[in-house]
Amino acid sequence: MPLIAVLPGDGIGPEVTREARRVLEALALGLDFAEAPVGGAAYLVTGRPLPQETLDLAKKADAVLFGAIGDPRFEALERRLRPEAALLGLRRELQLFANIRPATLFPALADASPLKPERVAGLDLVIVRELVGDVYFGEKGRRHDAEGLRQGFDIMSYNEAEVERIARVGFEMAKRRRKKLCSVDKANVLETSQLWRDVVNELATEYPEVQLTHMYVDNAAMQLVRAPAAFDVIVTGNLFGDILSDQASMCAGSIGMLPSASLRAWSGDNGMYEPIHGSAPDIAGTGKANPCAAILSAAMLLRHSLGNEDAAQTVEAAVAAALAAGARTADLGGSLSTTEMGDAVLRELA
Ligand code: NAD
Ligand code: IPM
Ligand code: MN
Repeated sequence: MPLIAVLPGDGIGPEVTREARRVLEALALGLDFAEAPVGGAAYLVTGRPLPQETLDLAKKADAVLFGAIGDPRFEALERRLRPEAALLGLRRELQLFANIRPATLFPALADASPLKPERVAGLDLVIVRELVGDVYFGEKGRRHDAEGLRQGFDIMSYNEAEVERIARVGFEMAKRRRKKLCSVDKANVLETSQLWRDVVNELATEYPEVQLTHMYVDNAAMQLVRAPAAFDVIVTGNLFGDILSDQASMCAGSIGMLPSASLRAWSGDNGMYEPIHGSAPDIAGTGKANPCAAILSAAMLLRHSLGNEDAAQTVEAAVAAALAAGARTADLGGSLSTTEMGDAVLRELA
């Protein structure tokens, strides 16, 4: 029986993960679930955001269903003790270098986006975000500069192997879709990005059927608002992918709609699945969180780690049907609670 590690985390993490787990259980696929604390919740009980037992469970499991981490109470702790360190540690320890973030407009949500319906119509893009490198994982620290002023620094770097493996995921993804790959960088300013662009161009010779374009990240941010439906696959670094995916979520109606898969191989390996949103301390405990991103992350888990495309599509269709029937949490302009939204999806599954 496949083992699913469930790491609910902080804030709305446990609230939305509960609904995702209910959906997985309703499919009666004979999955085993094991839950463990992570983030601020783990720090409170063990003094560490990523306890060894939690890491071991994540490594042993066939897939990890992750909620969200982050708690304002721990913002003053040293960095390695903060909730975020758990998420970064899991990504690095499990070598989850490929973060797949699809942004699709469910037709029923055409009016939920702040963008005009005709702009978001047909939105169906995937952001392939590099997840274990870039400025996130370079040397960082504080020092005093030559004038004796306090200085903070974070080193941004990629080597060619790191770029090639994520670019390959982008090309492979594009090959299976509309065959358009847009590589997003800041090569006009950053040397890291120039290397990125060179390596992507070199790899392009292996994928003649894919139409490759390059775009500077500032322009990409603008184009995501001007004509988001024109994108097919975007491949980009860790930091740019983080920012652009939150932006893309609003094209799809809400950050509460975007799932993600974090993988260390193109397919068939044990990945981690989580909504792209955070712990949302401003609404935690109010029952207002939209569980769709978590439920759709469970669908990605079925697809990528369990190889069950049918079940993945069943879950996605149930979310679409619930939305088509008018089910909406507050972020989508409705009034359903997190649990009621989960109920609405479960009704469509049944
Ligand atoms: P956030 O994504 O938690 O929230 C941003 C805004 O979106 C808030 O107004 C929130 O209420 C809303 N929102 C988010 N998810 C929602 C949902 N499912 N339904 C309805 N509304 C939703 O980002 P933030 O406020 O910048 O960060 C809060 C904390 O979360 C920080 O500690 C941050 O480090 C952490 N964080 C964690 C993750 C993660 O676990 N993957 C991702 C992003 C941020
Ligand atoms: C995300 C989050 C994380 C990131 C933070 C919490 C470390 O914003 O998963 O998008 O920046 O990758
Ligand atoms: Mn983010």
